[in-house]
Amino acid sequence: MIDPALVAALRDARHVCVLTGAGVSAESGVPTFREAQQGLWEKYDPQQLATPEAFEEDPKLIWQWYRWRRELVAAARPNPGHFALARLAELVPRFTLVTQNVDGLHQRAGSNDVIEFHGNLFDNRCHAEGRLVEHAPDAEVPVCPGCGANLRPAVVWFGEAIPDDALNESFAAAADCDVFLSVGTSSLVYPAAGLADIAKENRAMVAEINPNPTMRVDGYDFSIVAKAAAALPKLVESLAA
Ligand code: OAD
Repeated sequence: MIDPALVAALRDARHVCVLTGAGVSAESGVPTFREAQQGLWEKYDPQQLATPEAFEEDPKLIWQWYRWRRELVAAARPNPGHFALARLAELVPRFTLVTQNVDGLHQRAGSNDVIEFHGNLFDNRCHAEGRLVEHAPDAEVPVCPGCGANLRPAVVWFGEAIPDDALNESFAAAADCDVFLSVGTSSLVYPAAGLADIAKENRAMVAEINPNPTMRVDGYDFSIVAKAAAALPKLVESLAA
């Protein structure tokens, strides 16, 4: 399943950059975005809930959805894929982990300095001022203690900009790395999906790990058609051997 040429490229790499998406948390029981949702929320399309327009129209509904997701993620555990990436960081000279996930499972598995491209599910910010608010009042729709506007989860919604630091650091890492791994992402949402292109333009080896290869994979050097929780530990074991 693991191409020895990919292991060799990792062994020679000065800098490895990894982009993860919802697939890396699938085996922790966190549903991906483009697969059916569970339970109460199966009739909703996340792409319609995760928007500023939906929040402005019905903040109560959006908060109910996010509270449900917070509970689901709080009860979830990192899986062997998350742990393997934390280990990979120790095996290469330089390592950058960029995640589109807002679940914090990489950090719980021991990864440091994770670039959270789409924010964090457990943070709150003021929808009017944009600033993070540490303690949200306990209410169906909590309001900002500073200005009284609605608070919201500090995640990036469709149509919103990626935080500057996350964007700049990720683009710089993709341009600098020698190996880029795209793991568990449909590679449909830009600008995250463009990181692999930046890596490729700068002559990095690019590999995808996904049980359902994406349309982008033809332009990559390696495709590992497997689940992240199986493939990442194997890859890291081969590198450590
Ligand atoms: P998606 O739900 O679009 O894609 C998940 C990908 O994971 C798919 O390509 C699946 O084939 C793959 N997958 C499923 N199970 C897997 C497993 N066990 N191991 C590896 N891969 C697996 O999720 P993202 O690509 O993360 O943005 O979505 C990108 C962004 O779109 C999200 O961050 C979110 C979303 O809407 C915002 O909310 C702004």
